[in-house]
Amino acid sequence: MKIVLGITGASGSILARRFLETADAEVHLVISANSDKVIEYETGYNSSDFKKMAAYTYDDTDVAARISSGSFIFNAMVIMPCSMNTLAKIAAGISDSLITRAAAVALKERRRLILVPREMPLSAIALENMTRITRAGGIIAAAMPAFYTKPQTIGDMVDFMVGRVMDLCGMDNILVKRWKGEERD
Ligand SMILES: Cc1cc2nc3c(=O)[nH]c(=O)nc-3n(C[C@H](O)[C@H](O)[C@H](O)COP(=O)(O)O)c2cc1C
Repeated sequence: MKIVLGITGASGSILARRFLETADAEVHLVISANSDKVIEYETGYNSSDFKKMAAYTYDDTDVAARISSGSFIFNAMVIMPCSMNTLAKIAAGISDSLITRAAAVALKERRRLILVPREMPLSAIALENMTRITRAGGIIAAAMPAFYTKPQTIGDMVDFMVGRVMDLCGMDNILVKRWKGEERD
């Protein structure tokens, strides 16, 4: 399975790290310049550490990279975490970086595009942008943990969210603890 992973400057870079650690896939990674600081601040890693976990990496300014073309076949593109900035650009059809260009291509080629925004609360502009992307075929999978799984650690919450994103990619994973219905005595 081939996955394009974009990391942008929203909070939640730990989600991307967990995806890179556990994905059963060939990951093609692009990290936005603005996410560098957030990665370091939140995880203690830097973007070079993240890049070592991917099969291929590209510079976000390289709009001529192979993943910018509709001829590059992949199973899904995930942008995780996805900033409101990147979300707005995709909703507006702006392709001024490799991440936004690859996302625009995913939409035009009708390939799976999964955005994992993290922001709260949400303005009408952000909500309208999410609706627009959904109508164009993208999937908004906001970073929202569940509590019915009784998470004990941040890692449990991260695994739930990353596992659900892997489900959306059609990727086998062991991160999601599947709901088996209410257990009764
Ligand atoms: C520590 C930190 C946390 C941030 N968290 C968020 C966030 O959760 N959501 C968001 O949309 N932007 C967040 N931002 C702002 C984005 O990084 C900023 O809008 C940036 O321009 C995004 O650029 P990019 O989309 O090219 O990565 C954060 C910035 C910093 C420094």
